[in-house]
Amino acid sequence: MRIAAILVAAGSGTRFGAEMPKQFLTIAGKQVIRHAAEALAAHVSLLQPVGEAESIEHALAGVNGLLPTVPGGATRQDSVRAGLEALAPYAPDVVLVHDAARPVIPAGTVPALIAALRESPGAIPGAPVADTLKRVDRGIITDTVSRTGLFRAQTPQAFRFAALLAAHRSGLTGATDDASLLEASGQTVEIVPGSDDNIKLTYPEDLIRLERIMSTPLIPRVGTGFDVHVFEAGRPLFLCGVQVPHDQGLAGHSDADVGIHALCDAIYGALAEGDIGRHFPPSEATWKDADSARFLVHAAERIAARGGRLANADVTLICERPKITPHAPAMIARLAGLLGVDTGRISVKATTTERLGFTGRGEGIAAQAVVCVLVPE
Ligand code: CTP
Ligand code: MG
Repeated sequence: MRIAAILVAAGSGTRFGAEMPKQFLTIAGKQVIRHAAEALAAHVSLLQPVGEAESIEHALAGVNGLLPTVPGGATRQDSVRAGLEALAPYAPDVVLVHDAARPVIPAGTVPALIAALRESPGAIPGAPVADTLKRVDRGIITDTVSRTGLFRAQTPQAFRFAALLAAHRSGLTGATDDASLLEASGQTVEIVPGSDDNIKLTYPEDLIRLERIMSTPLIPRVGTGFDVHVFEAGRPLFLCGVQVPHDQGLAGHSDADVGIHALCDAIYGALAEGDIGRHFPPSEATWKDADSARFLVHAAERIAARGGRLANADVTLICERPKITPHAPAMIARLAGLLGVDTGRISVKATTTERLGFTGRGEGIAAQAVVCVLVPE
C-alpha cells in the first residue's frame, strides 16, 4: 500500500501575529514544520509540502520522501487541493493531510487512522469536548449546547486517495477540514482517538504549552571530586583559578590548582565521563605547568555537549594556611566565569582539620567538590 502525506504550510499565521508564519518558528530546537514532517515521514513514502518553496525546503532538508514544494492557495482547502493534484500522478492508495502548524503527532495516531481506512474512506483523530458549550450573541448567552457526541477535529486526517481527490474536485467550497468534504457527499468518516498534545499552534500561548510538551526533561545528576597536592617551596599558589599570595605553592604536573581539579572530577563524575586524568593524561608533556582553567573549560564544554547545564557547584578547600575566606569572592567569580554561569551557582568555602593529619601539619592542601548538573534523559 502506497501512503502519501500532504503537509499544508501556506498559511500566514495572522492570529498568531509573529513576523514569520508560525509553522517556521522553532520549538525544542527544531522548526514546527520539521517536527510535523519528521513525524509523518516515519509512516509515508511520499511527502508533499504546500507553501512557499524556499523556506519550506530550507526547513525540511533531508526529510525522507520529500517531493518538490508546490504553492498553496487562498484558503486551506485550496492548498490541500494543490497538494492532491501534485500527488495524483503517483496514484497513492492513501493520503494523510496534516497542518504544518501541528508539531505533535502522538504515536499510535497514524496506525489507527490507516487501520480505520480498511472499513471507511476517511478517518480523523478527534478529542471529545470537555467544556460546557455556550452559544453567545453580543456577549449574552442564548443557548447551552449539549456536548454529547461532540469532538474537536485534528490532523492528520486520512483518506483513500481517490475518494479525497474526487471530493476536492467536486466543486464544494468553504470546508475548514478535509473530512467535511467527504461528509458532504454522504461518505463515512471515522473518528479515532485524538490527543490534547496534538495542539495546532494558533495563538502565542499555544507556544508555551507546546514547549512544555515537547522539551526533553532535564534530569539532575550529582558528581563528587577530591584532590590533594603537596606544598612545594618556590612555586606560586593557585587555588580555584586565583593566585593566592603565600610562602609556598603546590607541587604538581600542571599548575596544581587542587580546587579546580576536584571541581573538574566532580563534573566528569556527574556525567559518568571518567576523570581529569583520562581527559588530560599527566604522562603528556602538553599539560606540564598547564593553567588548570583550561581543564575546567573542557569540563564545562562536556556539560554543553550533553545538552545540559550546571545547576550548582560547591567546593571545599581543606588547609590550615593560607586563609581562604578573603579570596573566596574572587575564586567564585573566576570559577563562574570559566563555567559560564552566574556566581550564585558557585560556592567556595574552606575548613581546617584542627591541626590533624597532613593538612593539619601543613604538608599540603586537599579539596573536595560536589556538583549538580541537569542533563536530558
Ligand atoms: N494553510 C494553508 N493555506 C492556507 C491557509 C492555511 O496551507 N491558505 C495551512 C496553515 O499553514 C496551517 C494549516 O493550514 O498549517 C491550518 O491553518 P491555520 O491554523 O488557520 O493557519 P494560518 O492560516 O496560517 O493561521 P491564521 O488563520 O491565524 O492566519
Ligand atoms: Mg487560517
